[in-house]
Amino acid sequence: MTQHKIEGNDNSRRNFMADTLAIGAASVVAPYAFGALGTNIRPSANGFINVALIGCGGRGAGAANDTLTGNPGVRLVAMADINTTTAKAARDELAKKFGDRVTVKDVDIFDGIDGYLKVLARADVDLVILATAPGFRPQHITAAVAAKKHVFAEKPVCVDTAGYHICLAAHDAALAQGTAIVTGTQYRRQDSFVEAIAKIREGMIGDVVGMTARYCSNGIWYRDRKPGMSDMEYQIYNWMHFIWLSGDQITEQAVHNIDCIHWVMGGPPTRAFSSGSRWQRPADSEMWDGFSVDYEWADGKICSLQCRHWPNSSNDFGNVVYGSKGVATIRAFSEGSVIRDHSGKELWRTKGDIGAAYVAEHKALVASIAAGKPIVELRQTAEASLMAVMGREAAYSGTVASWEFMTTESKLALFPTTIDLQGSAPTPFVRRPGEYKLT
Ligand SMILES: NC(=O)c1ccc[n+]([C@@H]2O[C@H](COP(=O)([O-])OP(=O)(O)OC[C@H]3O[C@@H](n4cnc5c(N)ncnc54)[C@H](O)[C@@H]3O)[C@@H](O)[C@H]2O)c1
Repeated sequence: MTQHKIEGNDNSRRNFMADTLAIGAASVVAPYAFGALGTNIRPSANGFINVALIGCGGRGAGAANDTLTGNPGVRLVAMADINTTTAKAARDELAKKFGDRVTVKDVDIFDGIDGYLKVLARADVDLVILATAPGFRPQHITAAVAAKKHVFAEKPVCVDTAGYHICLAAHDAALAQGTAIVTGTQYRRQDSFVEAIAKIREGMIGDVVGMTARYCSNGIWYRDRKPGMSDMEYQIYNWMHFIWLSGDQITEQAVHNIDCIHWVMGGPPTRAFSSGSRWQRPADSEMWDGFSVDYEWADGKICSLQCRHWPNSSNDFGNVVYGSKGVATIRAFSEGSVIRDHSGKELWRTKGDIGAAYVAEHKALVASIAAGKPIVELRQTAEASLMAVMGREAAYSGTVASWEFMTTESKLALFPTTIDLQGSAPTPFVRRPGEYKLT
């Protein structure tokens, strides 16, 4: 594997996992009183909530660690991954840390492209963590909701408009039946974001007039094809570089910033005007090197997003909100937030802790299930994901994309009609403005 940069605070996450090792192993307790359990927890659960992990790579294993860390009454009981070596390695690592709260035997690990269905068919699974390549997410969420499982779905939740509509239907179905869906937009539960946006809502920077947001990094991994891999196996293995699987960097990573824009502005914009470029990707990668999007609202406000993978360049992952009386800087990872007035005087500051946010999202999910008040937040993350798709498609095509078009007319459906792991995959191509059309 040719390794470039990996998203996120992998170092801080590793430290956090090490710090919580002892706590996790010691916490073999069942804290949920049956009286408080929601209607969709089985009475046979003996006070535990049984979790299954679907997609057991870096983030999937991290998310399993986070829920086991934050929720002493959670057990990991089953796993699915098309690569069972990866799944077993994750299981072994988690079992070392959490002892008998990880009950996954080899027979509880399912492979194949339909492994997720075998997990969902198990009556002892209450909650599933969905952390495969993003292209599968709408399909996996829909199947999990149909199986009446509670869901933790990593971001992005869709990479095209077809996936967006599937997510909205799943959101409504989960609401109707009383099962939870929490998404991996951890900044929504990070104190330095929550508090800064509360200060903005309280008027500390006056009226919000616009925003800039950046996910600018040095690069991303590229996984070299292994001998004997079919086209489909290879694309799923090297999923970041194929748009039907990752949605390109703007969807796969910058969705964090786009979700922050959605949060601050209270919903999606009316249109996107975008630029972008590609000059240094490996030949078979479909990804562009960078995007720059102006999200425009009907009242004239503009929120600008830029994201890029440029080697040996300056990084920035922050969000800045401009107001009539001041400016709020809300930085990513654990860098904290600060609010100043227009003279530069500091009005408020707080530290950030992304490790705590990764755990907090799983605590919120499990607490909502135990309280019988399941959180269902898929719609907002589907909207943020579609905002990313809208910015991407506007750049790829070189034409303005409106929210109206994306939600009512777009027929963009990238997922193949069949997935045969031993078979062919969509033919990669680079989208070029002037040639590529909005669909
Ligand atoms: N919230 C965050 O900060 C954050 C950070 C990193 C990754 N992520 C998200 O987590 C997801 C996974 O990312 P990752 O870094 O763990 O990737 P990864 O490549 O390390 O892991 C993905 C795993 O899913 C498996 N897989 C892929 N398609 C599958 C399928 N259809 N069925 C079964 N298994 C399948 C792969 O074999 C692999 O083991 C992505 O959506 C990514 O955007 C979120």
